[in-house]
Amino acid sequence: MNILSVASEVYPLVKTGGLADVVGALPAALVPHGIRTRTLVPGYPAVLHKLKKKKKVGGFDNLFGHPATVLSAEIDGLDLLVLDQPALYARDGGPYLDPTGRDYPDNFRRFAALSLAAAEIAGDNIIPGWKPDIVHVHDWQTALTPVYMRFGSAPDMPTVMTIHNIAFQGQFGASVFPELALPPEAFSMQFVEYYGDVGFLKGGLQTATAITTVSPSYAQEILTPEFGMGMDGLLATRVDSLTGIVNGIDADTWNPETDPHIAGHYGPGTLKRRAANRKALEERFGLASSPGPIFCVISRLTWQKGMDLLAEVTDDIVALGGKVVVLGSGDAALEGALLAAASRHRGHIGMVTGYDEPLSHLMQAGADAIIIPSRFEPCGLTQLYGLRYGCVPIVARTGGLTDTIIDANEAALSAKVATGFQFRPVTADGLRLAIRRAFRAYSEPNVWARMQNQGMKSDVSWAKSAERYASLYSGLLAKG
Ligand code: ADP
Ligand code: GLC
Repeated sequence: MNILSVASEVYPLVKTGGLADVVGALPAALVPHGIRTRTLVPGYPAVLHKLKKKKKVGGFDNLFGHPATVLSAEIDGLDLLVLDQPALYARDGGPYLDPTGRDYPDNFRRFAALSLAAAEIAGDNIIPGWKPDIVHVHDWQTALTPVYMRFGSAPDMPTVMTIHNIAFQGQFGASVFPELALPPEAFSMQFVEYYGDVGFLKGGLQTATAITTVSPSYAQEILTPEFGMGMDGLLATRVDSLTGIVNGIDADTWNPETDPHIAGHYGPGTLKRRAANRKALEERFGLASSPGPIFCVISRLTWQKGMDLLAEVTDDIVALGGKVVVLGSGDAALEGALLAAASRHRGHIGMVTGYDEPLSHLMQAGADAIIIPSRFEPCGLTQLYGLRYGCVPIVARTGGLTDTIIDANEAALSAKVATGFQFRPVTADGLRLAIRRAFRAYSEPNVWARMQNQGMKSDVSWAKSAERYASLYSGLLAKG
């Protein structure tokens, strides 16, 4: 079976969050099921520079007013298709934002072009001799693909639309519609029209054959007004086509026994060797070398991630004898609040602003616990990395955090299955209580070590979830 996966980012070429990790890791996990995935991404400079051998496999004379080439390349076993269209993607800045942090004004065109290219590859002979059986798209940036397919190139080919975060919907003014090269009837409630605007995600959710999201709990939550972000009504009409499949992690990139970014390798039987990483972490963040747990945070600094709640509890953590290390960037006010905490508590709270992949590995290997106080979390990956690294997760009880962490309540502790701490309500007080529970558990080395070991034994690989995607795909083909 051939899959065309379409996404706006992919690890290890371009990443702003978990989407890239998932798009980069799922294809390899599908191979044992006889599924071959080609992944189409935009030809941002960061992507083109990293590809060594690339080959032209197709092209467009005029895609949204500009020529474009489709390149094929392989990197780390990923079979990539790259849409090389300098007019839209050769920019300084990130995949979505210019160097000053503002959305590119033509993002609607940049991602409509990606979606239209995907639809044409699916239906036409753009790549001679190759066609997918199913097209799988991720998030709003690629959500017009099934709409273009329906109205043109491949009306009957099954499509899967995965929601990684329903908060991002790709909503633009109606004035962009004439530019999208869709027929007038597409500007209706059944397709892309959304309260008078154009909604990319809305179009995808209406049109895709199947909808998935990245955890079973989030699949339930987005059916409610509290979490559905205005899409709950639409999703209710599609509930029979909606499933939640939890993300896995790339167990080679995230393996404490071989990780090149950490100071000392270790495994479930050799947890004592984590000490070398703790020391390296203290040095890196300028922390005093004192006993007591080190809590880490690796996150976008946003309201979604509950970073304001973190800022409220840092004083308490220090008062209880703990230390905190934060790696993240985002909202300036949240960044400011955390930097202020770091300067109030020099030697006990350290912060690195920005994005640093290698440091994120050292933090998981050297800290005792990772704090994830998200107000909503479709899946979350950092708690999974935490499990694998013996860095005990303290998480809000929401979305994928609910589904992947076993709370250390009395029953779980006596059954020896606990892997972390969950809290609800998601407030500063809720988080404070969870942190107190963590301190208590940490003060009993046997209890703590058992939780670490239990986490390291959890299956966070892609195996089970890849099986679920494989059976979803097979079901769609059988129906087709
Ligand atoms: P989201 O995609 O909503 O940001 P996830 O938990 O799914 O949340 O994925 C976040 C990914 O980005 C993880 O791989 C995490 O390690 C990484 N990450 C987040 N912030 C940083 C940072 N400042 N530096 C390095 N990696 C980061
Ligand atoms: C989104 C979500 C995150 C999820 C990731 C990968 O960025 O916010 O929870 O883990 O996508 O699916």
